[in-house]
Amino acid sequence: MFTFFWMTLLFFLWGSTKNTGIRLTVESALGRPVCSGGYCITLNEGEITTEAGLCVVIPCFFTMADGFTPKAIVWFKCEPWRRRCGDSDVVFHTNRNKVPSEFLGRVLLLDPDVSQGNCSIMINDLSTSDSGSYQLRVNGFYQGTADGVTFPSRTSLSVKDLTQKPSVMIPPLTEGQQATLTCTAPGLCSGSPPKITWMWRGKGEMEVNITGNMAASFKTENLTVVTQRHSSILTFNSSAKHHNTNVTCKVSFTSGLTTEETVTLKVNYKSQPQITGNTIVKEGDDLNLTCNVESFPQSVVVWTKHSASEIYLQNNTGSATLVISNVTAPDSGRYVCTATHLNETVSAYADVKITWFSKILKGSGCVLQSALLTCVCITEGFPLPTITWPLLKDHTEYSVIKTVSNHTINDTVTIPLKNRHYVSVECYSSQGNEEAKENLTVQEDFPEKEGTFSPLPVTSALTFCAASFQMTNTFPRVTEIKL
Ligand SMILES: *[C@@H]1O[C@H](CO)[C@@H](O)[C@H](O)[C@H]1NC(C)=O
Ligand SMILES: *[C@@H]1O[C@H](CO)[C@@H](O)[C@H](O)[C@H]1NC(C)=O
Ligand SMILES: *[C@@H]1O[C@H](CO)[C@@H](O)[C@H](O)[C@H]1NC(C)=O
Ligand SMILES: *[C@@H]1O[C@H](CO)[C@@H](O)[C@H](O)[C@H]1NC(C)=O
Ligand SMILES: *[C@@H]1O[C@H](CO)[C@@H](O)[C@H](O)[C@H]1NC(C)=O
Ligand SMILES: *[C@@H]1O[C@H](CO)[C@@H](O)[C@H](O)[C@H]1NC(C)=O
Ligand SMILES: *[C@@H]1O[C@H](CO)[C@@H](O)[C@H](O)[C@H]1NC(C)=O
Ligand SMILES: *[C@@H]1O[C@H](CO)[C@@H](O)[C@H](O)[C@H]1NC(C)=O
Ligand SMILES: *[C@@H]1O[C@H](CO)[C@@H](O)[C@H](O)[C@H]1NC(C)=O
Ligand SMILES: *[C@@H]1O[C@H](CO)[C@@H](O)[C@H](O)[C@H]1NC(C)=O
Ligand SMILES: *[C@@H]1O[C@H](CO)[C@@H](O)[C@H](O)[C@H]1NC(C)=O
Ligand SMILES: *[C@@H]1O[C@H](CO)[C@@H](O)[C@H](O)[C@H]1NC(C)=O
Repeated sequence: MFTFFWMTLLFFLWGSTKNTGIRLTVESALGRPVCSGGYCITLNEGEITTEAGLCVVIPCFFTMADGFTPKAIVWFKCEPWRRRCGDSDVVFHTNRNKVPSEFLGRVLLLDPDVSQGNCSIMINDLSTSDSGSYQLRVNGFYQGTADGVTFPSRTSLSVKDLTQKPSVMIPPLTEGQQATLTCTAPGLCSGSPPKITWMWRGKGEMEVNITGNMAASFKTENLTVVTQRHSSILTFNSSAKHHNTNVTCKVSFTSGLTTEETVTLKVNYKSQPQITGNTIVKEGDDLNLTCNVESFPQSVVVWTKHSASEIYLQNNTGSATLVISNVTAPDSGRYVCTATHLNETVSAYADVKITWFSKILKGSGCVLQSALLTCVCITEGFPLPTITWPLLKDHTEYSVIKTVSNHTINDTVTIPLKNRHYVSVECYSSQGNEEAKENLTVQEDFPEKEGTFSPLPVTSALTFCAASFQMTNTFPRVTEIKL
């Protein structure tokens, strides 16, 4: 019956502390009642171990022989080898006047109603010197006469150095949202409240006291009449700069003992995707684009090509490098990097342009007809190449027509020749650092004496150049005329 009762108490105490992860110091079960002449005491079985700075409950229950009315409870502490503790060893007395100051207020009777037989005490603000053997005396009246009973059974208490740490609770932190960290002191003690301080250490920084936009508030919760939970709540606006930084909660007990716990903060945050690499690539070279997203947890990064649902590359490490080797013109277009962070997606894109350049194309050539030299030079590329005619510097009279169609440029130059004669005419095409040159052979065309002075077959280029010449006469698209 008594055992069941105590089990209930133990369960209650354990149950109430379990959530915070703090061990209460009652570790062994109550023993059986030890009786002598109708006087019974039930104490803890074996030694009770606890830690300095914390508190402990010494469970105890007694019943007196018929006719004995208990009035006061006295607890002594003395060396185990002494048969009986003396008056100088009092640690608790229902009459406070008889208690030495070092124990006064620090040792509490859990149930002040002595007639209930509940002699359990709690000792707060423990120090290692509280270790020892505890003995109970019940004073009262036996059949009307003042009397007292000292029970021979004792409970031994061992107070070890403090090893328990505060428990720090961190909810999931998200950038821009208020963060609330809770640090709970070990021990559910109703003694002097400990001091709880916070310290913060940023990346490569010194540890600093929490100040400024971080605020800490102290909180004491009454769990039962005799147990209290002391905690400190730190609130601040979390941001990416708090990620992977350390926060320390330090608990200082009145005895000067301290214990601390350090936690590393993890803040959910993300940055915009950043694309690096050249978006203008020469045909035949490699396209090499990296999309990087700084975030916690890491984002999944996917590369796709706009207007094509094909996934080129996917990586869950927050960074993905798209490499297309030996690019050709159709590889140009919009490439999209999509980053998925938790349940949100953000994207960035790169417009890739492939630059290419051809030689002087077929269809280029010159025709001399009636002292008028007409030369056509055709080339293509992206961006559009520029055509130059070195021979123009020797002439002051000429016309140039440029025709642009998609990536093809078609330059027609017409020069009236007086006494000069050309076997070939140079055409230069250039784009950036690249240049193509070609000597265009001059075909002489004498319509009046056809067949006599024209040993060369009439080529398609010739026909084409003649057509150009026709158009020159009507000046349909003259972009440059120098006379
Ligand atoms: C002794 O009193 C305390 C405080 O009221 C209570 O929690 C505990 O259950 C009691 N123990 C017994 C054995 O009655
Ligand atoms: C935070 O603490 C961990 C482990 O204690 C340590 O490895 C890390 O370097 C600390 N970080 C900072 C920014 O001090
Ligand atoms: C933090 O504050 C305590 C007192 O509140 C002081 O003793 C200590 O020197 C301070 N530490 C720093 C790093 O400012
Ligand atoms: C807790 O109990 C103490 C006395 O035991 C009392 O002064 C205090 O107001 C109580 N606090 C709460 C939050 O109930
Ligand atoms: C957090 O930020 C909001 C608005 O940005 C501000 O009103 C609030 O005071 C900040 N809280 C703290 C603890 O700094
Ligand atoms: C792509 O570029 C990165 C950084 O510029 C470089 O480290 C990597 O070797 C390149 N990859 C290829 C395949 O060229
Ligand atoms: C993801 O990227 C890392 C480093 O950037 C690389 O080592 C890994 O192979 C990549 N994984 C996939 C699935 O592409
Ligand atoms: C690049 O691609 C072109 C056309 O697909 C091919 O002719 C050429 O051999 C390739 N060059 C290399 C180095 O792979
Ligand atoms: C993502 O999830 C959070 C909570 O899990 C929710 O508040 C938020 O609205 C969600 N965002 C989107 C874009 O679905
Ligand atoms: C120009 O390019 C477009 C698309 O690339 C094509 O549809 C069109 O036929 C081209 N025009 C000429 C004259 O080559
Ligand atoms: C060259 O330009 C002329 C007009 O100046 C045009 O008629 C002809 O088709 C063009 N040739 C090519 C191959 O684009
Ligand atoms: C064109 O011919 C001239 C004279 O014969 C020569 O100097 C020049 O190098 C030639 N250019 C090309 C591109 O072949």
